[in-house]
Amino acid sequence: MDKLPQIIAYATAKLKNDKTGHGLDHLTRVAQNAKLLLKEEPQADTFIVLAACWLHDTIDEKLTDPKQAQSQLKAFLKQIGLTEAQIQAILAIITQMSFTRNLNGRQKLSLEGQLVQDADWLDAIGAIGCVRAIYYGGAHRETIYDPKIKPRTNLTKEAYRQLEDETIINHFYEKLLKIADMLNTQAAKELAKKRQKFMLAFLEEFKNEWNGLS
Ligand code: ADP
Ligand code: NI
Repeated sequence: MDKLPQIIAYATAKLKNDKTGHGLDHLTRVAQNAKLLLKEEPQADTFIVLAACWLHDTIDEKLTDPKQAQSQLKAFLKQIGLTEAQIQAILAIITQMSFTRNLNGRQKLSLEGQLVQDADWLDAIGAIGCVRAIYYGGAHRETIYDPKIKPRTNLTKEAYRQLEDETIINHFYEKLLKIADMLNTQAAKELAKKRQKFMLAFLEEFKNEWNGLS
């Protein structure tokens, strides 16, 4: 655990200027969510979970060259004295956990990986999830809503990143509303309930206002 401050400093240096919704505020909330989940899964290795939370977006293919970022990260973890087993455990989690990586088939994760994935996905739903989707959609110049464009089903990874006909509201149906059923742990599923309700209420109110009904 004494290595965690160095790991947080590494992630901070990599992501402190991020304006895509993967900044320090996201990492802080993911670690915070993970601490809640750890209380219910005390057999999980706390250090591996928290280290992976802080590092999970430092090798994201949207933000960086993933191969180069991975070898740099491995060298760093070795240099601060993590064991080979710890490095492998962290890398296995952060390379397999993303939503896109799991679109074409679910990847097998360790218990620690399941907690990190749940902690990350909880931050994609609820009120924070609404704001992140709107923020991302604005940054990528997505249309806000177009009732003529239907949400896509059976999305592949390639289609998920194809934003030409994407709308911010459709992203809720293509990803955000599906997350609650995809969570690994009971504790995360419990936390997701309120967030799911909030998103459904948001969408209902949005459509009512759009249609002049409220
Ligand atoms: P992951 O890292 O699990 O693949 P993303 O990086 O795709 O997830 O998502 C980062 C944030 O941006 C999430 O909150 C997600 O819901 C949001 N986001 C991703 N794609 C879109 C989109 N097409 N429109 C709106 N928001 C999006
Ligand atoms: Ni994340």
